[in-house]
Amino acid sequence: MSDKLEKGPITRKRRSTISGAAAGATLKQVNGKSNISKSNKVSYENQDCDGSSKEKDHALQTAAKERKYESQYVGKLSCHKLQESLLSSASGYSNYRGILNWCVVMLVLSNARLFLENLLKYGILVDPIQVISLFWQDPYNWPAACLVIVSNVFILAALYTERRLSVGTFSEWLGTAIHSVNLATILCFPMFTVLLLDSVTPAGGVFALGVYTILFLKLYSYKDVNKWCREIQHAKARSLSRSLSCPSVQRSSKRGGQGHVSYPGNLTHRDLYYFVFAPTLCYELNFPRSPRIRKRFLLRRLFEMLFFIQLLVGLIQQWMVPSIQNSMKPFQDMDFSRMIERLLKLAVPNHLIWLIFFYWFFHSSMNFVAELMQFGDREFYRDWWNSETVTYFWQNWNIPVHKWCLRHFYKPMLKRGVSKWVGQTAVFFASAFFHEYLVSVPLKMFRLWAFMGMMAQLPLAWFVGRFLRGNYGNAAVWISLIIGQPIAVLMN
Ligand SMILES: CC(C)(COP(=O)(O)OP(=O)(O)OC[C@H]1O[C@@H](n2cnc3c(N)ncnc32)[C@H](O)[C@@H]1OP(=O)(O)O)[C@@H](O)C(=O)NCCC(=O)NCCS
Repeated sequence: MSDKLEKGPITRKRRSTISGAAAGATLKQVNGKSNISKSNKVSYENQDCDGSSKEKDHALQTAAKERKYESQYVGKLSCHKLQESLLSSASGYSNYRGILNWCVVMLVLSNARLFLENLLKYGILVDPIQVISLFWQDPYNWPAACLVIVSNVFILAALYTERRLSVGTFSEWLGTAIHSVNLATILCFPMFTVLLLDSVTPAGGVFALGVYTILFLKLYSYKDVNKWCREIQHAKARSLSRSLSCPSVQRSSKRGGQGHVSYPGNLTHRDLYYFVFAPTLCYELNFPRSPRIRKRFLLRRLFEMLFFIQLLVGLIQQWMVPSIQNSMKPFQDMDFSRMIERLLKLAVPNHLIWLIFFYWFFHSSMNFVAELMQFGDREFYRDWWNSETVTYFWQNWNIPVHKWCLRHFYKPMLKRGVSKWVGQTAVFFASAFFHEYLVSVPLKMFRLWAFMGMMAQLPLAWFVGRFLRGNYGNAAVWISLIIGQPIAVLMN
């Protein structure tokens, strides 16, 4: 400190004795500019013209000393700058990785407490044998599996109808009628079988109806795409015959690389069964294909599939089932405060199970199947967790269904002049129907809660879009997911 006081005035005094050139050099040093020595040199060259070399040396030494002092003290003298606190939004700071880790740690700790509480209260309830009995009551009677095997009849019916349509043996009208009957049967046949056959368990029923629903959507897409191909073919044929220099339609459709399929070359068993097993609901003649099967990727997905399915089953048996059983009484007594307490208690395991299901199904399982089939398009979900509106959530959480809805239902409706609002309502109505179909039929309970839950998305989407923005919108979407599902579960 005393050193500083001593040297300060000396510096100032010397600065006044040398010419402006030295002062200029000092200032430049303070500002951290790199051309100091150059400016000094130029200045002292000028001085050299009218002064002695001694004077020049002295000035140079003084400037060097001055630079040394200033560089020594400049960092010490100023230690503040104009800046915002990190947590102010104006600071522009956005790296909250540590906070995220803290949330995960808190989540693990609080759930560990709940897990212990559950173990102390109920003991171990996980029972893999019970899971098997959910699908097979009688080892010699597999109705759900038989239903799935029978579904091949509908697949072949769609293929043979398309073959007839491609050669003109069936008119478009007849083809549409046959496809409609086939598709209606795909929905009705398993429904009546599950309702009438007592040997079909609820889990078996959900599995069989799930397979048939997927098949319905796939064959609907297959019918549409082949029809579009025929329309393109007819349009081409018309324009070519008009121009009188007509290379055959067949020849023109052979364009493309090796392995490129064109209509009607796609109407084969191999092509249709590839589509049936591929993780998509939208048919295409030439799916993007990955170059090879990555074995390590495949094994990792397989391991995840096996691990998460065990975890899901364990959590349902240990946590979900006792919570639901405990919630029945307050709901029967209409005891509102206890009902809300039970609802919030059920929300935690329900949400955790739903998140694990999402990862298991949309990431592990779909990627596993896609890798095995070298199916290239792996966009099975997008960043729905950042949804700030309900609309964004439905556009991004289940891409195969959303893609199908847009391509085969929503856009065709808009093209026919239907308004956006009516189109969206119709899509949500159809989606609500399928949700109800997959819940009510296997459980043999028709309470319409799944249907209403899906239809409630429309007013919810309007409310969140109209009144909430940004993080508030995102929180609203999360709350609707966390609370909405247990409400539907308990109402059923
Ligand atoms: C109803 C639903 C399809 C609406 O989707 P959306 O993306 O909000 O619809 P938009 O009005 O923004 O339009 C989407 C597309 O239609 C196109 N479009 C809009 N108006 C159009 C018109 N008049 N004619 C043709 N296309 C039109 C848009 O360009 C856009 O095309 P792009 O996807 O290629 O960019 C969607 O909310 C949905 O999939 N809902 C159901 C989801 C569901 O039930 N999932 C089940 C999961 S378990």
